[in-house]
Amino acid sequence: MLKLGLKSRAVKLVLIALGFSIAGAVVAQTRDEVIAERIAPVGQVCLLGEECAQGQAAASSGGAAAGGEFDVTATFDQNCAMCHNTGMAGAPRRDDTAHWEARLADAGFDTMVTNAINGVNAMPPRGMCTTCSDENIAELVRYLSGTEE
Ligand code: HEC
Repeated sequence: MLKLGLKSRAVKLVLIALGFSIAGAVVAQTRDEVIAERIAPVGQVCLLGEECAQGQAAASSGGAAAGGEFDVTATFDQNCAMCHNTGMAGAPRRDDTAHWEARLADAGFDTMVTNAINGVNAMPPRGMCTTCSDENIAELVRYLSGTEE
């Protein structure tokens, strides 16, 4: 009787231990899933003009809206205005027509575009517009220097 009791207690202990380890495994698994979710990439890279997985436009950093028309004024306001409307960092202001006329005569439009693409002194390459193509930059320079039709 005593022996049996011990035996069944032992069986119970084993069952309890088993229960714990199963519960533990389940907890561990869900924790892994939670971690996997947490370390999943925040955003997905999607190329301009392509449909993104979550239907997000690739325009968050400014520039051309995915698949849409390039909006020169909106892009200027978003990427260039902070310096070129204020004169910050010594940037020539958009309303400084005398500067742009002199610069166009002296350097020429193409050189100004090349400088805007590659950056010059405190002018960052592409004015930090990561989504702007060379043609977009040329349009922005036209807008900035007042040479747009
Ligand atoms: C962080 C400030 C800053 C931003 C943002 C910026 N620029 Fe500039 N930009 C400058 C400065 C400073 C200069 C003057 C560089 C020099 O000649 O020393 C300049 C000069 C230029 C010039 C004249 C180049 C030349 O050869 O005379 C053009 C064109 C230009 N920027 C276009 C742009 C465009 C287009 C954007 C937006 C896509 C932009 N910039 C954004 C600071 C900025």
